[in-house]
Amino acid sequence: RQPTRIAPSILSADFARLGEEVRAIDAAGADYIHVDVMDGHFVPNITIGPLVVKALRPHSKKPFDVHLMIAPVDPYIPEFAAAGADILTVHPESGPHLHRTIQLIKSLGKRAGVALNPATSLAMVEPVLADLDLVLVMSVNPGFGGQQFIRSQLEKIATLRHMIDAVVASTPGRKIDLEVDGGINDLTAADAVRAGADVLVAGTATFTGGAGAYAENIRRLRQAA
Ligand code: DX5
Ligand code: ZN
Repeated sequence: RQPTRIAPSILSADFARLGEEVRAIDAAGADYIHVDVMDGHFVPNITIGPLVVKALRPHSKKPFDVHLMIAPVDPYIPEFAAAGADILTVHPESGPHLHRTIQLIKSLGKRAGVALNPATSLAMVEPVLADLDLVLVMSVNPGFGGQQFIRSQLEKIATLRHMIDAVVASTPGRKIDLEVDGGINDLTAADAVRAGADVLVAGTATFTGGAGAYAENIRRLRQAA
């Protein structure tokens, strides 16, 4: 089991100063920079596209963990890859051929992730698990920061932990992150990690209190976990 990593979601950053915000969370100890991409169609909100990812790329050397909440997703994957994404995570509902989408991401030399909505079953990811670098369990319905952690997802996290451990055990050298996204705070961080998470996305919990507080916010989450 890898040590818990923290992936601040820049959805909660000051969008007028995004470059500075990315530098601030990098300096504050972020392990990944989590970028929430929304299209106002797959989810009821619109955020940022590949141009913004490209503009932010020089501001940090940490992996860009790009969470694509857009449909159809395939036509945009090459652009996000070229913009500097390191991990590209897609929802199974965002295209008809999940395996093909994963192969596309990997053919571009990027790490591939699959994200599961609260009502999406682990059965959706099981057939492709061995091909993945990351599975993201949504602990809120995607679209907005600042929502409450849905506790029924803890059981899904625990089951997925066993599934990932089994795949990793039979494939030496393989690593698959189990990332949890939504409603993470000091209390839910502990619950998610106890259930088996090893990467925690944190928007609100990272960005409260202004730039002076980011390092302490990240440290507290890591310690709680
Ligand atoms: C929701 C996004 C999350 C969100 C998390 O659709 O995928 O990454 O930014 O925000 P918090 O941590 O505030 O719940
Ligand atoms: Zn996200």
